Amino acid sequence: MDEFIYNNPTRLIFGKGQIDKLGGEIEQLGKNVLVVYGGGSIKRNGVYDQVIAQLEAIDARVFELSGVEPNPRLSTVHKGVEICKNENIDVLLAVGGGSVIDCTKAIAVGAKYDGDVWDIITKKEQPAAALPLGTVLTLAATGSEMNAGSVITNWDTKEKVGWGSPFNFPTFSILDPVYTYSVPEDQTVYGIVDMMTHVLEAYFRKAENVPLQDRICESILTTVIETAPQLMEDLENYEHRETILYCGTMALNGITQMGARGDWGTHNLEHAVSAVYDIPHAGGLAILFPQWLRYSLDTKIERHVQLAVRVFGVDPNGKSDREVALEGIERLEQFWKSLGAPSRLADYDIDDSQFEVIADKACANGPFGNFKKLDKEDVLTILKNSR
Ligand code: NZQ
Ligand code: ZN
Repeated sequence: MDEFIYNNPTRLIFGKGQIDKLGGEIEQLGKNVLVVYGGGSIKRNGVYDQVIAQLEAIDARVFELSGVEPNPRLSTVHKGVEICKNENIDVLLAVGGGSVIDCTKAIAVGAKYDGDVWDIITKKEQPAAALPLGTVLTLAATGSEMNAGSVITNWDTKEKVGWGSPFNFPTFSILDPVYTYSVPEDQTVYGIVDMMTHVLEAYFRKAENVPLQDRICESILTTVIETAPQLMEDLENYEHRETILYCGTMALNGITQMGARGDWGTHNLEHAVSAVYDIPHAGGLAILFPQWLRYSLDTKIERHVQLAVRVFGVDPNGKSDREVALEGIERLEQFWKSLGAPSRLADYDIDDSQFEVIADKACANGPFGNFKKLDKEDVLTILKNSR
């Protein structure tokens, strides 16, 4: 293992009816609250009313920023920062999926910074402070509810940038599985692919002697593989929603990677693709990750083999390592396809005309990926294999 310090300060408040805790949590953080949400799903499913009732009960002064886009944009972050500065906001409350939470994280930091928050997102400046934020999660996917990451798109320059800061950890996150009942079929699938890919990115690491980290990853993956098909049959099943919601958080709150940093190259590449085409993050991952697996096969094939055998139940008897590994990749592809995820760039009408642009964006900071280093030529090959 590598040396590590683990500190995750987010208070996770999980289960049916836990919205009751919202007023008490906010009261400890301040009076002036900016509620941040997306395109309206929380109004249609009743979550908005429950949130506002909690805030009214503590006499909070409530301000709102609505319309946060999937793949949240810098322009929306700017609007939020302005409200915070003008209205003396004490605390931010994100109500929605990963996009709303990521946008709120950027607003929280931007509210305490004199320049343009893009300086911080692009790592030219370090944040020195932030407003506190809480979340009410409505979609199981990113893990943003219990991590310090955020992904923001600057649509003017077509850059989608992942960044993080210790200030970004939500103070609390409320997760009620019932709030995810209304997530439509396609978004449910995207969430499942995203959380699985977070675990898979973590699984491909260079650190040795990581048996527990591996078993944690394998447990999350097998739990998702067992539950997801049942959930797709019954989108309002409490137990399946509960399991998937919990898996999504555990997939990216740091526990899979203690002392063992994962690869994360496919996430970097996907961000470059969705910066150009604005496709759903996990749609891109479902296409690219199996191709990355094939491309990285010779880096340390034992990892691919272990995944194939332990997670996808491939029988290794009488087969070469390569055959076992490839069978595992095919089973992963098959599993995602069976849920309805895309498998080729053509599914989004993406042809090879922008491959150079995407590859340049992905390599903007040089070769990337901690398990398998990818340069521009590698990226172009993976993109071609994904057509
Ligand atoms: O905008 P509304 O109307 O709320 O609708 C959203 C949106 O259209 C809808 N939705 C959310 N909860 C719902 C619901 N619809 C019905 N019922 C509900 N309960 O779902 C759509 C997608 O929402 P979004 O927040 O964009 O999805 P997700 O949670 O997958 O977030 C994706 C973003 O997170 C970033 C991605 O790059 C992308 O920008 N990521 C953030 C990470 C992090 N912070 O740690 C890690 C990830 O790898 C990822 O990169
Ligand atoms: Zn992701």
